[in-house]
Amino acid sequence: MKYRQLGRTPWKVSEISFGAWAIGGAWGNVDDTESLAALRQAIDSGVNFIDTADVYGMGRSERLIAQLKRERKEDIVVATKAGRRLPKQTVEGYNEANLTGFIEDSLRNLSTDCLDLLQLHCPPTDVYYRPEVFGFLDRMMEAGKIRYYGVSVERVEEALKAIEYPNVQTVQIIFNCFRQRPADLFFAQAFHKQVGILARVPLSSGMLTGKLSPDSQFAADDHRNFNRHGEAFDVGETFSGVDYETSLWFVEGLRRLLPEGVSMAQFALRWILMFDAVTCAIPGGKRPSQVADNCAASNLPPLSDHAMSAIRALYDTRIRPAVHQRW
Ligand SMILES: NC(=O)c1ccc[n+]([C@@H]2O[C@H](COP(=O)([O-])OP(=O)(O)OC[C@H]3O[C@@H](n4cnc5c(N)ncnc54)[C@H](OP(=O)(O)O)[C@@H]3O)[C@@H](O)[C@H]2O)c1
Repeated sequence: MKYRQLGRTPWKVSEISFGAWAIGGAWGNVDDTESLAALRQAIDSGVNFIDTADVYGMGRSERLIAQLKRERKEDIVVATKAGRRLPKQTVEGYNEANLTGFIEDSLRNLSTDCLDLLQLHCPPTDVYYRPEVFGFLDRMMEAGKIRYYGVSVERVEEALKAIEYPNVQTVQIIFNCFRQRPADLFFAQAFHKQVGILARVPLSSGMLTGKLSPDSQFAADDHRNFNRHGEAFDVGETFSGVDYETSLWFVEGLRRLLPEGVSMAQFALRWILMFDAVTCAIPGGKRPSQVADNCAASNLPPLSDHAMSAIRALYDTRIRPAVHQRW
C-alpha cells in the first residue's frame, strides 16, 4: 500500500482507503460479523483511513469502526460526516445547535473525545455561502471537538467555493471513470491550495467491478434499487447518475483494455490514482475479499497512455453528454 499526504494535516493516508457506507446500511442486508472482517482486512492490507457518516445505519457504521479501533493498535484516521440526519435539507438546518448535537452523537458512536475529520455531508449549495457555518467549525476545532474539517460535495462549483475557506482540509467528491469533470479545473486548484481530495463512489456503486449485467437484481433496501432515479437522495450517488444500460456499454469497453491479471475493480481504482491531486479513493467494501481486491490496486503499475486515452474516448462518446455539465 502506498500513502499520500492528506491536505495540510499531519497524516499520510493509504491511497486506497475504506468507504464505510455499505456496512451501515442502504446496500441490502449486511452482517456485522462480515463487516468487521472487511474492516480488519482493510487494516491488514495497509488501510489507515476510513470514511463514514453518522447517518450510515444511524450510527451502526461508526460503532463498527469504534469496535475495530478498540481491537487494533495501528493508527487509524476516521473521517465522519454531519448534516444528513436533518429531516429536511435546508441552509438553516446547518446551525450551531444541530451541528453540535450531531458532533456529540458521532463522538459517542466512535468512542472518542475528538473527531479526526468532520465533513459537512453534501449540504445545500447555499451553505457554502454562509461563512458562519465554517466559523462554527473553527470554534469546534478550538474547543477540541474536531481535529480538522472538510466537506463532501455534489458539484464541482461547491468544491471550488468550499476551498475558499482557509481551514477546509479535504473535499470529498464523486470521481471515477464515469465522472471526470473534477479533473478539469478543481483538481489543479485543490492541489495548489494543498486540499486533500477523497474520491468517492470510485467503483460507481459496484458497476466498475464488471460484475453487473442487465439482469442483476438488488434488494428493496439497496439504493441501487430504490434510488435509481434519485427518489431518496441525489441521483448521482447511485451508479454515478449514469443510466444503467449506458454504464454496461462503458464497462464492456473497459473490459477490452484490461491488462492480464488485473481485476476490473483494480483497473478502475488505478485509473483514479493516476491523478496526483487525489489523496485517496474510498471504495466501499462489504466483504474481506472485496477489500483485498481493491487494496491491491495500489501495487499496480501506472496505466498506459493508450488505456488512459481509450478511457477518455469512451467517456467522451456517451458519458460526457449525459453527466459532464450536471455535477
Ligand atoms: N454523500 C457522500 O458523502 C457519500 C455518498 C456516497 C458514498 N460516500 C462514501 O464513498 C464510499 C464509496 O462509495 P460507495 O460505497 O457509494 O460506492 P463504491 O465504492 O463505488 O461501490 C461499493 C460497492 O461495490 C461493491 N464492491 C466493492 N468492491 C468490490 C469488488 N472488489 N468486487 C466486487 N464488488 C465490489 C460492494 O457492493 P456489493 O457487493 O453489494 O455489490 C460495495 O458496497 C462510501 O462507502 C462512503 O464512505 C459518500
